[in-house]
Amino acid sequence: MHLLAWNGFNTTGDLRDMSKSEAEIRAEKIRLELHRHAHLYYVESRPEIKDSDYDLLFAELRALELEWPELITNDSPTQRVGAEPQKSFGTAEHSVPMLSLDSTKNLEELVRFDKRIKDTLGNNPEYLLEPKLDGASIELVYEHGVFVRAVTRGNGQVGEVITENAKTISSLPLRLLSSKRVAPETLSVRGEVIMYLSEFEELNQAMLKKGLDPYANPRNSASGSLRQLKSRVTAERPLELMIFDILQCPGLAVESDFEGLEMLKDWGFKIVPEAQVVTTLNEIEEYYRSYEDRRDELDYEIDGVVAKINQLDVREELGNTSHHPRWALALKFEPRKATTRIRKIVVQVGRTGKLTPVADLDPVIVGGVTVSRASLHNREEVERRGVRAGDLVRIQRAGDVIPQVVERIEEENTQRGKEFRIPKNCPACDVEIVERGPFSYCPNRFGCVAQLKAGILHFGSREGLDIEGLGKKNIEKLVDEKLVSEPADLFCLQVEALEELEGFRKKSAENLYRAIQEKKSIDFNRFIYGLGIPEVGVTVAKNLANEFGNLPALQEASIERLESIDGVGSIMSEQIYEYLHNDITSSRISAVLHQGVRLIPPKSSRSSEMAGKTFVFTGKLIRIKRGEAIEAVESVGGKVSGSVSSRTKFLVVGEDPGSKLQKAKNLRVKLLSESEFINKIKQ
Ligand code: IVH
Repeated sequence: MHLLAWNGFNTTGDLRDMSKSEAEIRAEKIRLELHRHAHLYYVESRPEIKDSDYDLLFAELRALELEWPELITNDSPTQRVGAEPQKSFGTAEHSVPMLSLDSTKNLEELVRFDKRIKDTLGNNPEYLLEPKLDGASIELVYEHGVFVRAVTRGNGQVGEVITENAKTISSLPLRLLSSKRVAPETLSVRGEVIMYLSEFEELNQAMLKKGLDPYANPRNSASGSLRQLKSRVTAERPLELMIFDILQCPGLAVESDFEGLEMLKDWGFKIVPEAQVVTTLNEIEEYYRSYEDRRDELDYEIDGVVAKINQLDVREELGNTSHHPRWALALKFEPRKATTRIRKIVVQVGRTGKLTPVADLDPVIVGGVTVSRASLHNREEVERRGVRAGDLVRIQRAGDVIPQVVERIEEENTQRGKEFRIPKNCPACDVEIVERGPFSYCPNRFGCVAQLKAGILHFGSREGLDIEGLGKKNIEKLVDEKLVSEPADLFCLQVEALEELEGFRKKSAENLYRAIQEKKSIDFNRFIYGLGIPEVGVTVAKNLANEFGNLPALQEASIERLESIDGVGSIMSEQIYEYLHNDITSSRISAVLHQGVRLIPPKSSRSSEMAGKTFVFTGKLIRIKRGEAIEAVESVGGKVSGSVSSRTKFLVVGEDPGSKLQKAKNLRVKLLSESEFINKIKQ
């Protein structure tokens, strides 16, 4: 059933006889039907009507909404794919902190965990067991039964608002079902967004074909897909959502987690498969083993099982540490291993000049993911493992860690390849290699083409400026053709020049041009990360952005001041300082800014106050254009709707307001004048 692929059917002509109030009733009726059938199809896998009948209903609703756009509601099944790409995501605070789980790979730890709980309680608890899905954790919020907001886990307190993208997941209920159980006034739940393994492989193949870098694993592809600025792109990604927890539901009377799951099911959620309540350690172990055995047969990644106390009053009694609840333990599986042969050992030069020996492997599938390279880390590591080209080896892949060569498997009567040696000179620029401890470096910081390529790749990477289409292959071409010799050059690239590159056509040249130009406005933290300062990862980049707010402030910071930032040690602070004051790197930064790149300061807590709130406009705005106003609301994570309803938070009243004003007054919606609105957004 293709819910999203609507063919443009238009029955407007047939609707002329209908009055608006008749249409309103009809539209609501269809919406309810569509919600029910989508649930039967996507969650329960037992459709009651033919796809074509569903499509007809869908088309009728579409036609009604086309004739009377004011009848469109946020939870209408026609609104699964947002029309306008977003500029950036707003942030929002979670209704309750999204903690992580204490985990172990050791079943003995479970015995201690169980004992501790029994000692505290003085009796035996019930455990709820679930598989631990390896995807992206999100919070979904419902108000009056209607889906209003999805937020990524982020740092556990605050996450990114990805409502529009979450809506594209077919099994996400846009409205809670209420036939079995009344929908609560407010509900926030937690679940995991995953990508099925079969679909993940397919997506990666398609990305490779387009010259894009494939995702390393299904978890990265799930979270990457959720963080697309165009919800149209997310809609094309085969995502699935499984819920495992009620985060908040005031007034809800349940005694156990299991009961909570039953409620979630009644409200139409797809819940985690095979939740089971047990009372003994043996049963936990049995559950763990059975999943461990079946792990390779599942079409999704699990990295362990979770044991949680089932009784909610007991949970309350045990409480949480600042990171994780004391009433749950994740039992992780050992990393998956596979056997394959090393074709050759190559040396990669990274953006900091570090040389990494990498084993080129006969491709092998490990846990549903094809692996054809594995890191050998450094010179000493290769020596320790004693591996050479041609050797049979055991490799492992754990979570999103780069696959590793674990050991060589001895074979009889085989002619082995030559012993591996780190080259004396850089394979890219021929400058003599220097050794620091077990690591080898190319010291040619500003003259080595391999370092340059790796640096540009990092600049445009997903966590950096996230420039679509700027993968390894394209960077090779851009640098080799001398079109790019520092990041700023990217912004000067013209379509005509790109078109000349091998493998490019007009369309692909235009796409890359646009993808680059779009990033002329970029979050400050992404920019910091993209610079590729040694050791500065996503978290430190965010901390620096939050702390300093803008580039001049960061550039003025002393080494001591930098060291006071969370996650920055004494060595890192010196490296950051050096990078910002080095003649060449600092002039590269200026060059990027000179190209018109604008750094978006981090959102203050103000923005989270606006996140998820719905704004409606009426009348003519004088000081700003309507489009700018909408953009401003969305940039702080708010939403704009065309009509006033009980969900509207603010009505912005311009000159000559329409009937929305009266409706808003009736519903006691807060009114804002244009200047009040501008002040609010500016804050
Ligand atoms: S319970 C308060 N149950 O694993 C902790 N978590 O660090 C509640 N996860 O990102 C978590 N499957 O999103 C729980 N069945 C499951 C889960 C699960 C996956 C994720 C969770 C979090 C990570 C734990």
